[in-house]
Amino acid sequence: MQKLLAWFDDRFPLTKVWKEHLAEYYAPKNFNFWYYFGSLALLALVIQILTGIFLTMHYKPDTGLAFASVEYIMRDVDWGWLIRYMHSTGASMFFIVIYLHMFRALLYGSFKGPRELLWIIGMVLYVALMAEAFMGYLLPWGNMSYWGAQVIISLFDAVPLIGPPLAEWVRGDFVISDATLNRFFAFHVVAIPLVLVGLVFVHIVALHKVGSNNPDGVEIKKKKGPDGIPLDGIPFHPYYTVKDTVGVAVFLMVFSAAMFFAPEMGGWFLEHDNFVPANILQTPPDIKPLWYFTPYYSILRANTVNFLWIPAKLWGVTFMGLAIVLFFFLPWLDRSPVKSIRYRGWMYKTALAIFAVNFVILGYLGTKSPQDVSLLLFKNVYWAQIGTILYFAFFLLMPLYTWLDKTKPVPDRVTFK
Ligand code: HEM
Repeated sequence: MQKLLAWFDDRFPLTKVWKEHLAEYYAPKNFNFWYYFGSLALLALVIQILTGIFLTMHYKPDTGLAFASVEYIMRDVDWGWLIRYMHSTGASMFFIVIYLHMFRALLYGSFKGPRELLWIIGMVLYVALMAEAFMGYLLPWGNMSYWGAQVIISLFDAVPLIGPPLAEWVRGDFVISDATLNRFFAFHVVAIPLVLVGLVFVHIVALHKVGSNNPDGVEIKKKKGPDGIPLDGIPFHPYYTVKDTVGVAVFLMVFSAAMFFAPEMGGWFLEHDNFVPANILQTPPDIKPLWYFTPYYSILRANTVNFLWIPAKLWGVTFMGLAIVLFFFLPWLDRSPVKSIRYRGWMYKTALAIFAVNFVILGYLGTKSPQDVSLLLFKNVYWAQIGTILYFAFFLLMPLYTWLDKTKPVPDRVTFK
């Protein structure tokens, strides 16, 4: 075995990579619950790719055949139902994991220097993941697939001057059609997965260059022993490979529970309107995307006024775009001298709590009709307008409240019981 390994090492840096990125990669010893979600995101990506390959073996990207081919997978292909539910439940699980992964960064200031680029790569991953999910949703050619794509691609119409031809170019036709289905299939199955895998690779490379942050926000590389090893670091393998296995086990239990007992999750993971084939003559009463897009959908629909000669739709598209773009600027909007929420003052804590609750409420409102009253007193659209203001206030006021906030002294070393 030694000889075989030496043979490989002479030709490929096997032992070197193993040591640098696992056995001798020193991670802070105080990782907690929130640090499970990076490895779980990796697992979710692998599950989506593997199940996707098997779905592609039986799926037909043709408007005349697509819906029936999915039903065929569900009913006739051996274990097809399991593969399909793994993929559809997997998509929602992926977003749950990603949202928790991103929230961790907000809790512990992981987006702050020196991890700005790591954060930006993460945000590009998030946008690519949204594109992947959006295009995948058209493939079963259900009625919500069709009308959802119709609404979202029509948003390009709002772009000044080039809007309508741009939307037509994206669709490849005047309406959502076979041309659209085919190109979405190509992007969903080949192009975006390649981009995602490439981005995950550079995400990890960037992480290993700067090292992991931790719940104390203390840079462990600043305190090294005589051997050059961070005093608060422990080798990733075996410590965190074992710890992550626990996360994987719990994740798979939750995943299986959803998949076997509630794969549609009452319409949250698979919408009721998508069990009906696409029908260009029957618009569903409430067109809405799946839950992971609905906070932004609420922001889009909260813009109801034509203002300064700019139509409401263009305001909506602009605000929806800004809602995502602002995340990229977090490292520079946050002026706090400390990273972790443990040592921040009440202002950031309150702002983050309001932001998180507001994000969930916006998400809920995005699944409801704007004219209904689902929460107290007001129509949903008014709540969404209040939510939109709060959403942007979190980002735009951040330089001010993080500068004013009274922080606590950060310890020299990580705290660990
Ligand atoms: C396919 C999607 C993704 C995968 C597979 C992935 C994977 C990982 C892994 C394995 C880690 C190290 C373990 C951990 O800290 O939990 C990590 C860290 C990190 N990721 Fe991601 N990630 C993804 C998406 C994102 C997104 C969307 C963002 C934010 C916009 C992001 C931001 C970060 C940050 C800031 C860290 C460092 C955290 C720290 O050290 O405290 N990642 N990621």
